Amino acid sequence: MSTVPEQVVKRRVLFVDDEPHILQGLRRMLHPYRNEWEMSFAESAHDALGLMEKQPYDVVVTDIRMPVMDGAEFLNIVMRKYPQTIRFVLSGHCEKETIFRSVGPTHQFISKPCDADTLRSLVARAFALRDLMSSGNLKNLVSRLQTLPSLPDTYTQLMAELRSADPSIRVIGELVSRDVGMSAKILQLVNSAFFGLRNHVSSPLQAATLLGTETLRSLVLMTHVFSQVEQAKLPSSFSLEELSRHSMAVGAVAKAVVKQESGDKKLVDDSYMAGLLHDSGKLILATNQPEAYGQVLTEIAEKRISLEAAERPVFGATHAEVGAYLLGLWGLPDPIVEAVAFHHAPGQCLGQRFCPLTAVHIADVLVYELDSGSGESSEKMDMGYLEALGVQARVGAWRELGSRILQEPLR
Ligand SMILES: [Fe+2]
Ligand SMILES: [Fe+2]
Repeated sequence: MSTVPEQVVKRRVLFVDDEPHILQGLRRMLHPYRNEWEMSFAESAHDALGLMEKQPYDVVVTDIRMPVMDGAEFLNIVMRKYPQTIRFVLSGHCEKETIFRSVGPTHQFISKPCDADTLRSLVARAFALRDLMSSGNLKNLVSRLQTLPSLPDTYTQLMAELRSADPSIRVIGELVSRDVGMSAKILQLVNSAFFGLRNHVSSPLQAATLLGTETLRSLVLMTHVFSQVEQAKLPSSFSLEELSRHSMAVGAVAKAVVKQESGDKKLVDDSYMAGLLHDSGKLILATNQPEAYGQVLTEIAEKRISLEAAERPVFGATHAEVGAYLLGLWGLPDPIVEAVAFHHAPGQCLGQRFCPLTAVHIADVLVYELDSGSGESSEKMDMGYLEALGVQARVGAWRELGSRILQEPLR
């Protein structure tokens, strides 16, 4: 029996820079990847748009400062006309004004100079995330999102703090760390090198401190990096307050579990953030596809089926995949994206170590068990996964810890 060799689909990547020697450098540096990627090079945004009219591209990587049409304007057009295309900026130092204008349409900001391996891994990571989602419509929807809406109360409080004469970075950090949408956005800004800070940061207070009050004030008040939910547009059976409460509870329990198991600061911060963001896909679906998401919720209530069984036929993806796709596009740290993607099925994730995914999976189930009304009724702890990690005997202790945490007020 003969087997047909699997056809390798080459991804199309388009590089845009007005300086020919930069394009030459990229061409040379990325030559070893010519079997993986079909690469095109354009010396202006106009040329790039011409190429995009002829064939679709998976990723564009553009400079910001270019004559006639700059990178920000170019990416805004790409976002509108070709929403499926992933949008990266590769740029040297530029003024804050220019960065503020490009924050909206840019998925990730990479600073020059960038070596071939880093560039390749950032682009490859974006492809892997895209493959996680099969639905083209959802990919378009998610890659167009510039903000994830916040609870109106938190949004109003943050605005008031930023408009005050002497805003406190601690108060800002605390407000942001309670809100799913604000946390996701601030981590995008810090982790994507928009402001030359590319770092693995998962604490909103640290992120706010790194950005500084003045930059934050401009980003929030002028560039509108945060937005608030329009309650009237949500499905009537969906409560954003409940989702927020559940997300904070999962974050708090995940953090406590990790503190007890390892105490490693990075792991603790990552686990809290992964817990807070784990159901961000629900927020995306409820705010952008309210009618369909309302139907999903009704079906779950009537037929008592799992969330995955209700979501996949309607959206072609689950809330876990949708959330992970957005956070990955925004360049959030891998352990957080992985925890969000697999929080309902940790066994599907490669890697046999205790990580934020482990903590979030445990916390999500415990919060559902201990805090009725919050979370998903179909969820069970994946004992096979916990056994493979050799931690199954710890479940009783975590349950006790979880119930103590949930008796305290959530920050
Ligand atoms: Fe979930
Ligand atoms: Fe959950």
